[in-house]
Amino acid sequence: MKGLILSGGRGTRLRPLTYTSAKQLIPLANRPILFYAIDALAAAGIDDIGIVTGDTGREVEEAVGDGARFGVSITYIPQGAPLGLAHAVQVSRDFLGDSAFVMYLGDNLVRRGIVPIVEEFKRTCPDALILLAHVEDPRQFGVAEFDGGRLARLVEKPSVTTSDLALVGVYVFNSTVFDAIDAIDYSDRGELEITDAIQQIIDAGRIVESHIILESHQARVATWKDTGRLEDLLEANRLVLDEIEPLVEISIGPDVRVEGKVVVSAGARLHDCVVRGPAIIGAGTCIESAFIGPYTSISDCCTVRHAEVENSILLQGSVVEDIVGRIDSSLIGKECLVRRTSKRPRAHKLLLGDHSRLEMS
Ligand code: TTP
Repeated sequence: MKGLILSGGRGTRLRPLTYTSAKQLIPLANRPILFYAIDALAAAGIDDIGIVTGDTGREVEEAVGDGARFGVSITYIPQGAPLGLAHAVQVSRDFLGDSAFVMYLGDNLVRRGIVPIVEEFKRTCPDALILLAHVEDPRQFGVAEFDGGRLARLVEKPSVTTSDLALVGVYVFNSTVFDAIDAIDYSDRGELEITDAIQQIIDAGRIVESHIILESHQARVATWKDTGRLEDLLEANRLVLDEIEPLVEISIGPDVRVEGKVVVSAGARLHDCVVRGPAIIGAGTCIESAFIGPYTSISDCCTVRHAEVENSILLQGSVVEDIVGRIDSSLIGKECLVRRTSKRPRAHKLLLGDHSRLEMS
């Protein structure tokens, strides 16, 4: 069995970060989301993996390399334009050949991995196996509708639906899917939809199995997260941080308090601060006269000085300084500067990229 990770796309919901970077490389607990997808496939014994890439392909290739450090072999498959999930499968036809394969959306996190799903596919040999989860707002997802217990219809981002079962970003197919994709048309939003391809497989009388991985959307701990939006990315970061092994690789002075599960990487400098886990501090980062609250991931070479940060992600090289009030629920990109100044006139001075969001209190 092969693996196919989709790492192209537009990433409009995570602008402005996605103007310059792949959303699949945004780190959760200081590790790109995409790496967790590769880990999940490798753990299921899949070591021949294709990664579909778009405009950010070079950055993805630089980050992942040939796959050796994951114990897998990676083939990069450029997708000329982000024309949909089924289009991404179509352009991967040469790589996939006649093999059954797991298609994994590179911005999705499946916490307990995919071993049982791959085993179920191998045992029951359907034409397709889809994963479903109960969600609060099905309108943002591909949704599965059942008819007397039988999977009847798949609808992409429905405005009205009777089902709260969303398609999780992991699918298993055999090569039947290529005929199905050949038979579908572009949707109203101009994409070849994987939901239409699966519907085609159902309508052709082939076997599509489904497997519910999240029994209730009220389950306190989610097992799956699509990280397409900021809120979901922060939640995925919390899920991963909840499971980190604490490790402090520097010696801590008496003016520093580290509470709970905390990772402090080698080369970080901590002075006069409290770090309350779960949290991770990257290599070369300086935390001074500061509070780092739970569920915070601070990447390498950042500075947090005279400031408090909680439930947030800071990417490499960013500086947060002299802030009154706590920074919460934030994603701060690479090399950003967030600073209070006493210069007059006293005013908020902003340099924000297109589609940035700033909420001030
Ligand atoms: P989506 O999140 O559905 O789409 P998107 O990345 O374009 O984001 P947005 O809706 O915010 O504009 O994509 C799911 C995954 O599949 C993601 O990892 C990107 C990838 N993808 C491709 O590789 N090729 C494509 O043509 C599309 C649409 C998505």
